[in-house]
Amino acid sequence: FSAFLTDNFGRRHSYLRISLTEKCNLRCQYCMPEEGVKLTPRGQLLSTTEVLTLARLFVREGVDKIRLTGGEPLIRPDVLDIITELRKLEGLKTIAVTTNGMNLARLLPKLKDAGLDLINISLDSLVPAKFEFIVRRKGFHKVMEGIDKAIELGYNPVKINCVVMRGLNEDELLDFVALTEKKPLEVRFIEYMPFDGNKWNFKKMVSYQEMLDCIRQQWPNLKLLQTGHTDTAKTFKVPGFKGQVGFITSMSDHFCGSCNRLRITADGNLKVCLFGNSEVSLRDVLRSGASDEELLKIIGAAVGRKKKQHAGMFSISQMKNRPMILIGG
Ligand code: GTP
Ligand code: 5AD
Ligand code: SF4
Repeated sequence: FSAFLTDNFGRRHSYLRISLTEKCNLRCQYCMPEEGVKLTPRGQLLSTTEVLTLARLFVREGVDKIRLTGGEPLIRPDVLDIITELRKLEGLKTIAVTTNGMNLARLLPKLKDAGLDLINISLDSLVPAKFEFIVRRKGFHKVMEGIDKAIELGYNPVKINCVVMRGLNEDELLDFVALTEKKPLEVRFIEYMPFDGNKWNFKKMVSYQEMLDCIRQQWPNLKLLQTGHTDTAKTFKVPGFKGQVGFITSMSDHFCGSCNRLRITADGNLKVCLFGNSEVSLRDVLRSGASDEELLKIIGAAVGRKKKQHAGMFSISQMKNRPMILIGG
């Protein structure tokens, strides 16, 4: 495995998250401020070719999983071309997207043909009016159609990302778990994380322990499953249910020790940690005509600066970071 992608704590970064756009057709409260964010001029975003050049380099060095994020990745016009080209990269085992699901029912057959392996869909409420309040747009039924289409086309499990916020949707935990009875879904409850412009505060965060206690009251036999060493979620199952339930505990029990993830933002910065604000522009290096070796040196130096773990709940809520929509999760 590449020394450039291995950090000082021995973590091997084999999972690359590439944000394809800063735009989105929703306005989720936990992801962006109401007024939106200042968008990078188009010419400063990575082109199709630049995305593929970087992907090729990272895969050559040992990345075997690429997740496309955003903003909303499926509104980027060349998303099918990108997946088609990624599919040709020898060594890349998994191509994934994280989407809000709005365009999924329409696009999924083509995405599947292009070679998409995994789909994670954001869904924070099962009550249409509440969904619309959280995402500040209409679209609940389109997302549900997208989820059904993913099941119909054989994706298993389809992962549902639900950011749990006190006073908004924490009363829906049991309804989300119930959804896994008949459908091959993995519902993942995510602890609410702080980013610029999302008005996070400690009281709005519902911890893993609290969620687990609530669900165990209804389903005391909830069973812990084995997961991969680098998985973000702790995963459980109600015996007899088709699907699973996961918890992403970035706040109360971080999983930085097994982190294998690097990020490239839509404007071409390498971000080695979700909560690290040191970034390096790979776009500028690419555009200066640098060789692969020069690029790798810069990537390796950034990976070498990666901290052992994030700075803790309260520090990260005070640090300057990008709004989530400009990171991609
Ligand atoms: P899988 O590949 O299916 O395991 O998905 P994933 O969890 O890697 O990605 P997804 O885009 O579905 O993200 C789900 C949640 O996990 C989001 O809230 C992300 O911000 C969070 N997440 C993903 N990677 C990291 C990470 O490296 N650190 C932390 N703290 N959270 C992460
Ligand atoms: N806290 C936790 N998860 C978040 N996501 C977006 N913003 C936040 C936040 N503040 C999740 C979304 C999406 C994934 C990429 O990140 O649910 O599915
Ligand atoms: Fe868009 Fe996803 Fe952010 Fe919601 S969480 S505003 S769907 S990028």
